[in-house]
Amino acid sequence: MQVLLADEYGFCFGVERAVEMVEEAVAAGDTVRSLGPLIHNDQEMERLAGQGVSTVDDPNQISSGETAVIRAHGVTPQVQRDLEEKASKVVDATCPFVTRVQKLAARAAEEDRHVIVVGSPDHPEMIGVKGYAPEHAFIIKDETEVQSLPRLRRPLVVSQTTIKAKTFFDTAEAIKTKTDDEVQVVNTICSATRDRQDAARALAGEVDAFYVIGGNHSSNSRKLLSVCKEQCEKSFLIETALEINPADLVGVERVGVTAGASTPKWLIDEVISKLEEIGKMKESASAN
Ligand code: F3S
Repeated sequence: MQVLLADEYGFCFGVERAVEMVEEAVAAGDTVRSLGPLIHNDQEMERLAGQGVSTVDDPNQISSGETAVIRAHGVTPQVQRDLEEKASKVVDATCPFVTRVQKLAARAAEEDRHVIVVGSPDHPEMIGVKGYAPEHAFIIKDETEVQSLPRLRRPLVVSQTTIKAKTFFDTAEAIKTKTDDEVQVVNTICSATRDRQDAARALAGEVDAFYVIGGNHSSNSRKLLSVCKEQCEKSFLIETALEINPADLVGVERVGVTAGASTPKWLIDEVISKLEEIGKMKESASAN
């Protein structure tokens, strides 16, 4: 049985960078507190907890002598200042793609322009971005919310990093009805999610079974599963190698593997080893 990995899988650049920054702080002997869960993966959070990394919900829960971590989603400038006041050290793991959105919003606000961010208003990334242009920014989910906007002044339109391109461009187009000024549209969507889906789709047509490794509550992992299922009926979403049922692999010659953007490499390696082990058992059973 051949085990094939999708071309793009697992940690995106921003999450990998955040985990590395936390591990560096741990290695330096720091007591590390992440403001909000560093990543949406229970197993990885447990592993980090074993290294003394804990999660807090509020900067006030951080004591002096501790190291505070800003996760990849970023925070508002006010929350950053609160962390700097409370903690001895702040590790800023804001994904550089998110920093770009924050800077664009801040600059437009300085120029007294309106900023429209297309995304979910209650997503931590959006709350952080709004903090960079509190008086000038509006966050809207999609084009259906454009009508609720006031008349706009030289608007800048940017996006949450993880939304769909169609939603963004349709909304940007609709925003033109809200101003007589020129609309500046800057596409700030990150390609990590789409790259993983495209790679899974390409592989799903070539295999007899597919394992997507990711949290059950992770929307990007569930989306990967539905992409795989379109072409490979035997597609499964699993969190760890323990969930692989060898009975599902009877008659399977090629099995595909991918993982959501919050799935660490060590969990992926465990799944691959388990599949290879099952493959060897199948081989020796058929030889006997
Ligand atoms: Fe950054 Fe894209 Fe990941 S914005 S955190 S690399 S999904």
